[in-house]
Amino acid sequence: MEKAKSTFGSKLGFILAAAGSAIGLGNIWRFPYLVGRYGGGAFVLVYLLSVLLLGSVVMVAEMYIGRRAKSNIVESYGKANKWLKWLGLLGVIVPFVISTYYAVIGGWASGYAVEYIINPVLIKNPEGFFGSFISSPIAIVFFILFLFATLLIVCGGIQKGIEKASKFMMPALFLLLLVVIVYVMCLPGKGEGHTVVDGLKFYMGQFDFAKLGWDGVLAAMGQSFYSLSLGMGVMVSYGSYTGKDTNLGKSALTVCALDTLVALLAGFAIFPGMFATGASLETIKNAAGPGLLFDAMAKVFSNMGSGAGNIVGFMFFTFVIFAALTSLISLVEVVSQYTLEKYNWSRTKATCVFGGIIGLIGLFVCIGMGWREYSIFGFSLLDYFDMVTNQILMPIIAFAGCLTVGYVIKPKNVYKELAEMGSSFKGQKLWMALTMSVTPVLLMVVWVMGLVDNFKPEAFGASYGWVVGGAAVLMVIAFVWNLLLENTKFQTWKQNKKLASEAAVEEYTEEESNN
Ligand code: TRP
Repeated sequence: MEKAKSTFGSKLGFILAAAGSAIGLGNIWRFPYLVGRYGGGAFVLVYLLSVLLLGSVVMVAEMYIGRRAKSNIVESYGKANKWLKWLGLLGVIVPFVISTYYAVIGGWASGYAVEYIINPVLIKNPEGFFGSFISSPIAIVFFILFLFATLLIVCGGIQKGIEKASKFMMPALFLLLLVVIVYVMCLPGKGEGHTVVDGLKFYMGQFDFAKLGWDGVLAAMGQSFYSLSLGMGVMVSYGSYTGKDTNLGKSALTVCALDTLVALLAGFAIFPGMFATGASLETIKNAAGPGLLFDAMAKVFSNMGSGAGNIVGFMFFTFVIFAALTSLISLVEVVSQYTLEKYNWSRTKATCVFGGIIGLIGLFVCIGMGWREYSIFGFSLLDYFDMVTNQILMPIIAFAGCLTVGYVIKPKNVYKELAEMGSSFKGQKLWMALTMSVTPVLLMVVWVMGLVDNFKPEAFGASYGWVVGGAAVLMVIAFVWNLLLENTKFQTWKQNKKLASEAAVEEYTEEESNN
């Protein structure tokens, strides 16, 4: 039976799957923008530091938590201490929430890739295309197809589904990105101030600590954290599928390096591309989020003209599809693993039931984005989900993960277990020292500063309270869920009560028949 025993077939497979989770939309539509905005090289430097001090440390901690329990995230935290199970539950809820909007955006990217092949309008007249695209039924069709592809891969299991898909998609992703970059580098440009070189200068040509500031440092830490898929079960879940001899330290560093590489490379396609096709500085400076991919980049491809533009556009969006798909797979896997292990469901059943629910909620997100400006407390559903999870819940989970390793399991046991697993790694003392001190402190700083920043009236003002509220509600759900479904005391109490009432009924019927 595929269950507790399933593992990745090879170390490379594990690394590619974990890198697949990490490399996602964040690398493409946030990282390059942050570099451009916060002083170029200065930001990159701080980002690299925070990948090392924060990202890689949390990643090893999460992989280790899963690796030792060889089980889903709830059981993994439960093995450390049964009161930590609710954290694990939060780690099931968060990916679930994120997957709803991730699938919608993945659907848009798939739609665009196909449109570049079959629809001449996109290349001729990109202005306003996005708005009409997301409010057409086609967007929903592609959303469903994208989700379906994800579910199919997850149903395939760890080796035959996730590992196989990652082994194909990750190299393909690199190749596509490189080809797009090479093509962009060869663009002739549009005269003074609109050349590839200007783009490179804007992106990496500065090293400006004044522009970085404290804000930039916080942004770097937050980004490293999001980009590496930390604070939500994924690395715990993937870690639980590793074989005996997997070196967690080395694997985590490799995943961090690959993720950072793609983030850096994405900027080399985006900025030179926008400069050389004559985008306005205004557009370039705001090149982040869905607007970057589906508006600004679409204009870049249009400027290349039909033919070349169609091909490069198709390749670029296929790259985005692979990035999003491998991430969504990991999100769905967290939820599936929990249900299939907990309720003894088959992998297919667990995946399809949750896939169905994700589909339903995603449908609202999808319709909400395009058809009706649905908003929730002044945010679009997509932004709302994004903020509740990224800014509030993920740092809490990662923070608790560090403390779990350092103070609940304790260093002595960690080293012993690592040795028993054949997974001891160089620098594990340094890792442990960071896990117990610097990293959790940094996490709390990012968290608190994020809260303080967003409470400023000029930022989100009153509506931001709803974000905090939403996060609080999810935490309460996890807590109550833990109490009712996971807590053995409650389960025994319920069982006793049931037995007692059955006994009472029996007694009663006996009395009746005696009469
Ligand atoms: N790392 C992904 C990105 O860069 C986003 C993300 C955050 C994610 N947490 C995740 C993806 C968990 C999958 C699972 O876009």
